[in-house]
Amino acid sequence: MKLTVYAALIVGLLTISGCTTPQSIHPGAVWLDNRGQLIQAHGGGVIKLGNTYYWFGEDRSRDNSRTNRCVSCYSSKNLAHWTFCNQVLKLGNVENFQRGWALERPKVFYNPRTKKYVMYMHIDGALPGQSGGYSFARIGVATCAKVDGDYQYLKSFRPLGHESRDIGQFVDDDGTAYLIFEDRPFGFRIAQLSDDYLTLEKEMCLIPEHLEGGALVHYNGLYYLIGSELTGWNANPNVYATAKSLAGPWSEFKDIAPPETKTYDSQSTMLLKVAGTKTTTVIFMGDIWKPRMQWDSRYLWMPLEIGDGKLWLPQPHDWMLNIKTGEAVIKQ
Ligand code: GAL
Repeated sequence: MKLTVYAALIVGLLTISGCTTPQSIHPGAVWLDNRGQLIQAHGGGVIKLGNTYYWFGEDRSRDNSRTNRCVSCYSSKNLAHWTFCNQVLKLGNVENFQRGWALERPKVFYNPRTKKYVMYMHIDGALPGQSGGYSFARIGVATCAKVDGDYQYLKSFRPLGHESRDIGQFVDDDGTAYLIFEDRPFGFRIAQLSDDYLTLEKEMCLIPEHLEGGALVHYNGLYYLIGSELTGWNANPNVYATAKSLAGPWSEFKDIAPPETKTYDSQSTMLLKVAGTKTTTVIFMGDIWKPRMQWDSRYLWMPLEIGDGKLWLPQPHDWMLNIKTGEAVIKQ
């Protein structure tokens, strides 16, 4: 009896820490944190520090105060079990929006030069005299000395003078940090962050397609960029293009999944590369939005079929990730 209890405990511990056993990820299912609460990291991004992953995203908890917009941070060693760290940003209406104020798609970068964590976010709303809710179209920046500390809001700006709504983050294999932003009416722009990461300083390219939800990965010498159509909270067929260099030329855009599935009702937010001892897996991170119950919006994370200029999102099923070897196995 005692032995069984110990065995169960050990298996439990290994499962939680993810030391040896592959961990299951359930696309579209309720995803609870260590407290048993719905993970609130919508429109999010993930960074890795040492062997720990940090997931930041919109905290749309039902009981958040209506005046604040919040960002939460979770940590994990295996990408399956997430520990709540902190509600790292609780921002009041600092820009004095008259209505429709939004803080969306927060992304955190670690700057090794300044040793600061820098959060980018889409900040929007209508100022007096403006008609639409999303007319501010700016990037907000907040910083912190600790990855999961309380971030201080610094400023908002239009990157390189352009409108910016959905943003996506990308750190290349050489450590250079970039942002993908949607500049309506022109298209996707990819721009390099300044040395201190507090602004964008160099535009790499403009891709003249009306896309948002930008997500980028560098895989086997090729850049793969995913975007979604401009359909608000409603899902649409997400598409991808490739290029040998960020400056382009970019290929034409193709579907990442059967178009009638509308990306299995999800929208891209990030591509996460897990390089293990045996192989490299690229994870599609998408949001399954529930606009009327945002707190219950779900996540669709799936390993992609990727290589030789092709990218495909397999039909969602539960899957296992071995964080050490990088191997992903989809359960059929
Ligand atoms: C989507 C966008 C979301 C949110 C939403 C509001 O297009 O990707 O982040 O802004 O519109 O309608």
